[in-house]
Amino acid sequence: MSIKVAPSLLSADFSCLAQEIKKVERAGADMLHIDIMDGHFVPNLTIGPVVVKYIRKCTKLPLDVHLMIENPQEFVDAFVNAGSDMLTAHIETIPGSKLQALSSKLKRKGIKFGISLNPGTPIAKIKPALKYADFILVMSVNPGFSGQNFIPGAITKIKELSAIYKGDIAVDGGINNLTAKGVIAAGANILAAGSYIFGAKNTREAIERIRNAGK
Ligand code: DX5
Ligand code: ZN
Repeated sequence: MSIKVAPSLLSADFSCLAQEIKKVERAGADMLHIDIMDGHFVPNLTIGPVVVKYIRKCTKLPLDVHLMIENPQEFVDAFVNAGSDMLTAHIETIPGSKLQALSSKLKRKGIKFGISLNPGTPIAKIKPALKYADFILVMSVNPGFSGQNFIPGAITKIKELSAIYKGDIAVDGGINNLTAKGVIAAGANILAAGSYIFGAKNTREAIERIRNAGK
């Protein structure tokens, strides 16, 4: 599977977001990872649909919107209307009874549905949901902040997942040229990275280093 790199805007300079987006777009990003936090599911706050709507206007890249919020089903329409191409919700926040409806709704609208799990959540918890997902996002840090260290347990989890799931496997948190190697070998093919890409002097080189880390 080809490796896709998703710069996470959480590490961008929000005072000049359009320029930051253009920078990663020109440097070869495959999609933009946008972190939505509500201060409840995670101990931080970020942005809502209003900002996503304006991000949509300044790039052609697919918008990979990562919802780290309680009751994600209540906000799905707003993020769909704002222009998301991929929408990820956490298994810890989606009531089992809502999964099927959520997945069918997104399918009808042509949006990819991702289901994510935190470092503390075992693969067993996500098994019944695999049939509803277009991709699974394995968190390799406890969500809330960029710039945290990669949690090595994510490698075992990706391996375990790739043995039973043939869709795309995304990974998010602490990804750099070194940690990328291990997650790609384990079976991940979409790599979100914030501080490594936005903190790099040469953005294109940083993206390519992640993309080619498994070669
Ligand atoms: C963490 C976010 C990540 C974060 C990644 O809660 O979901 O997308 O921005 O940042 P780095 O790559 O710096 O760990
Ligand atoms: Zn994220």
